[in-house]
Amino acid sequence: MGVMSVPLLDLQAQYAPLRGELLAAITRVCDSQRFIMGPEIDALERELSERLGVTHAITVSSGTDALLLALMALDVKAGDEVVTTTHSFFATAGAIARVGATPVLVDIDPATFNIDPAQAAAAITPRTRAIMPVHLFGLAADMDPIMAAANRAGIPVIEDAAQAIGASYKSRPLGTIGAFGCFSFFPSKNLGAFGDAGLLTTEDAALAERARLLRTHGMKPKYYHHVVGANFRMDALQAAVLRVKAPHLAGWTEGRRANAARYRRLFQDAGLDRGGVTLPIEPADRTHIFNQFVIRTADRDGLKRHLDAHGIGNEIYYPVPFHLQPCFADLGYRPGAFPHAERAAQESLAIPIYGELTQAQQETVVSTIGQFMQQRVGASARS
Ligand SMILES: Cc1ncc(COP(=O)(O)O)c(C=O)c1O
Repeated sequence: MGVMSVPLLDLQAQYAPLRGELLAAITRVCDSQRFIMGPEIDALERELSERLGVTHAITVSSGTDALLLALMALDVKAGDEVVTTTHSFFATAGAIARVGATPVLVDIDPATFNIDPAQAAAAITPRTRAIMPVHLFGLAADMDPIMAAANRAGIPVIEDAAQAIGASYKSRPLGTIGAFGCFSFFPSKNLGAFGDAGLLTTEDAALAERARLLRTHGMKPKYYHHVVGANFRMDALQAAVLRVKAPHLAGWTEGRRANAARYRRLFQDAGLDRGGVTLPIEPADRTHIFNQFVIRTADRDGLKRHLDAHGIGNEIYYPVPFHLQPCFADLGYRPGAFPHAERAAQESLAIPIYGELTQAQQETVVSTIGQFMQQRVGASARS
């Protein structure tokens, strides 16, 4: 056992069949010598708005910058509060802090890893200017109660959909439910660029116009500045790469979903789903795109060491919730404030789920996990 090593992600497997097309697209941009804005960006924005079912698709420099731009377009600033989850990649809370606002953190629903809507509603104060749910690992947050709470308070919702491109909630594409949707094309995402890139989406024409203005230093026309923006532009080279890859997104996501279904069967057949391993759920009203397949187990650190020793890729998303991060110490949260998130930080582990994963590789992953769980049962029987 453990003779076959399995990486957490194998980007070469996705790159190889598209290599010729990708290099031709890059060459096209080099030959044009048009690297900033221009036809590749315009074409990608048109193609993505159709493909994702969103009205306005605004390409940006990264997922982080999509969040920052959304907050700036909604005029969130110092003294304001934004309600968000404590369990996400740092960019979510980091963007809120970067505009000078205070992240007001809440716990997760332990079944989905996503923000608890009741706690989000309860955290709203007269200073709250937005709610920022995260569709973590590719599964939508429970948007109806979040939107209801936001509408009652008269504040917008910014969807952090960085990990959830193409996912849906009650048949609605993510990124179309709140005022803005923020996506990342970081290379490990379901649709990855060859570097940093991101996307901001909105259904609101006025917000789209404001975001486009802020994306290029609030400049209109050239060298006339109405508002202070920044440089949030996507490179034309990244747009050209994404134009080659985007038509394959649905197929790649189907591959991930099929692998998730196969994991369920394999974990069930091995009795592991009843024997100490909790599998990710997919509520009937949502489509999960499995950017990550995150399992939970009591001795997560032990399992991680075992998988590392056997060459099985894995990663902890995320080991420290925002409320316990040193940079947010002045927010005043204490250990124990958000028990579900703290437990998830200790128990969860992502295992390989990329589309090109083979049945044999998945069997190796599950049997290696089974071996660890059996050793534990054996050890506790002896003690
Ligand atoms: C939930 C979440 N939000 C925001 C981001 C930021 O995206 P980027 O890395 O493109 O800046 C990421 C990326 O990893 C993410 O996972």
